Amino acid sequence: METERIEVPAPSRAYPVLVGPGLLDRPQILQEWVGDGGILAVTSRTVAGLYLNRLTALAGGRGCESLVLPDGEEAKDIRHWQRILHRMARLELKRDCTLISLGGGCVGDVAGFAAACYHRGVNYLQLPTTLLAQVDSSVGGKTAINTEWGKNLVGAFHQPLAVICDTDVLNTLPDRQLKAGLAEVVKYGAIADEEFLGWLEINGRALLARDPACLRHAVRRSVEIKAAIVGEDEHDSSGRRAVLNFGHSFGHAIEHTAGYGQWLHGEAVAAGMCMAARLAVAEGDLQSREQERLETLLADLGLPVNAGDLDAGALKKAMLSDKKNARGRIRLILPRGLGNARLTGDFSMDALDAVLSGRAS
Ligand code: NAD
Ligand code: GLY
Repeated sequence: METERIEVPAPSRAYPVLVGPGLLDRPQILQEWVGDGGILAVTSRTVAGLYLNRLTALAGGRGCESLVLPDGEEAKDIRHWQRILHRMARLELKRDCTLISLGGGCVGDVAGFAAACYHRGVNYLQLPTTLLAQVDSSVGGKTAINTEWGKNLVGAFHQPLAVICDTDVLNTLPDRQLKAGLAEVVKYGAIADEEFLGWLEINGRALLARDPACLRHAVRRSVEIKAAIVGEDEHDSSGRRAVLNFGHSFGHAIEHTAGYGQWLHGEAVAAGMCMAARLAVAEGDLQSREQERLETLLADLGLPVNAGDLDAGALKKAMLSDKKNARGRIRLILPRGLGNARLTGDFSMDALDAVLSGRAS
């Protein structure tokens, strides 16, 4: 099967995303993207056990040092960001070094932030190993760590040299993580490409069964859509890139209210997209049959379509502290038909309350 190549036209640095099977076995990957300086690979415990030896084998004689972080959000703690920087300093890495992240979005975010800071920015190569990381977090240059004041509150924009998505590694991903990644794939159809939604409706089962060609297509089309948006609004300043957060304000409120770790991010985004769609129906921007279509697709992919019994007041309180809000007003990404979405604060608070309390359906 051929490797797909998508260019990300970020104004600060354009770079490719390669998508296909077997990429982790190709020595050209490091030859092409890694400069003459030292290499440090940052990964997490589970991924290290599965794939780190493949990466060090690729490096061959030139050597590749590694640092293993905990799995999941724990890796995005300032202590682990500091560990990466200390290791880089102890290895006496210079500006020509390359930091490689091998793992999910958590490893990618913390390693990317270290790459943005060490010597004011060094080369960074992303080898994402979750579906969510391949279709979303590895592309676009957002890097971050969590603090006690909030998730992703401290970070930087730092584009990678390249993103290498080996779709074979998705075979070891737990089912729940695969489905969470599919929520972000559906997001791209909902915000930018109704035809892609139709393709997902036809190929949902094959994706759940990890059909290689279907996975490659789903990653490629998702990356194409994200790449185009990043090219238009790299630094998330015009409102264009904000559409990538469709479902996320509701989703973050769900994650926060339920307690971090109870819901996977993608699961909360799936329910959040359905809630945003219900609000858009109430506002007359989406037809009921379009909202039902989105919900059916997400449910068929094994994803939640509502916030369960979470308290509406607590959800609204969490939404009031969202980063996208302006002048004390909640701003949300709402669909305008399927395949289109916008950032807006122009909706009825009564309609929002009805959605949060489960009264809108
Ligand atoms: P994750 O990084 O926690 O990975 C999920 C789990 O899967 C981990 O336990 C990991 O060790 C394991 N894993 C990873 N690859 C595996 C594989 N191939 N086989 C078996 N197990 C594997 O979660 P995630 O969903 O990849 O990323 C979530 C993070 O991404 C969040 O912190 C979120 O804020 C961030 N994010 C960032 C951006 C961005 O633009 N920077 C966008 C979306 C999400
Ligand atoms: N995941 C949202 C963004 O990259 O802007």
